Amino acid sequence: MQVIILPSAHDVALFAADRVVDVINTKTNPVLGLATGSTPIALYKELVARYQSRQVSFRHTISFNLDEYIGIADSHQQSYRTFMNQHLFESIDIVATNTYVPLAESQNADTLKKSAQDYEVSIQQAGGIDLQILGIGLNGHIGFNEPTSSFASRTRIKTLSESTVAANKRFFKEGEYQPHLALTMGIGTILESKSVLLMATGKAKAEAVKAMVEGPLSAMCPASALQLHELATIVLDEEAASLLT
Ligand code: F6R
Repeated sequence: MQVIILPSAHDVALFAADRVVDVINTKTNPVLGLATGSTPIALYKELVARYQSRQVSFRHTISFNLDEYIGIADSHQQSYRTFMNQHLFESIDIVATNTYVPLAESQNADTLKKSAQDYEVSIQQAGGIDLQILGIGLNGHIGFNEPTSSFASRTRIKTLSESTVAANKRFFKEGEYQPHLALTMGIGTILESKSVLLMATGKAKAEAVKAMVEGPLSAMCPASALQLHELATIVLDEEAASLLT
């Protein structure tokens, strides 16, 4: 695990954009793993800017998002599919059918299990993920692998922890239905990516970052699993790194 500390959140986004562009420009059929949430928004803005200034093309890129809420339509304002369309896919030249986000609209357990299995197969068929972008939850989650998730877990249904539901409440309108379940890549799935780049910014993430980098390998801090990955880069701003010794 390599830890890089940069002065600001903007620098973190630029660093991540350099890594993404490097993968796209060195692979014939690059496969990216993508995340949603507040942290990667600046990265996606930067990638759109680089596409617009012709520094990169996503024409041959395939992408797999980490997770999706269960029980809301793809077209729902808060779905992760909508998030990705709005923040990245609609503004670059990626082929829409090459953008995968777990299909989780159904509330039927068997349909969701099949969807999770199919997702794993699609990742394999694409040749595996070259670079997985990650954020980290306040409780140390990656994707929606909440504390106690197995390090061997694969794409599956997860119940969101109370702290995650509370943290994501800000994205939903007053009285709007907020899902408590998600379909998420597993920790085992994430660890199979050829390389991983976790971004964390802001003081609120400092404790989770410390547990991930300096704590023991523990299912109570799912991100600590990244200590096992030879090509995991953790890129932090000074605030997120502020509790590291
Ligand atoms: C979302 C995801 C989550 C977020 C995490 C941090 O696809 O995988 O693990 O990365 O909840 O979210 P933000 O960036 O909003 O603090």
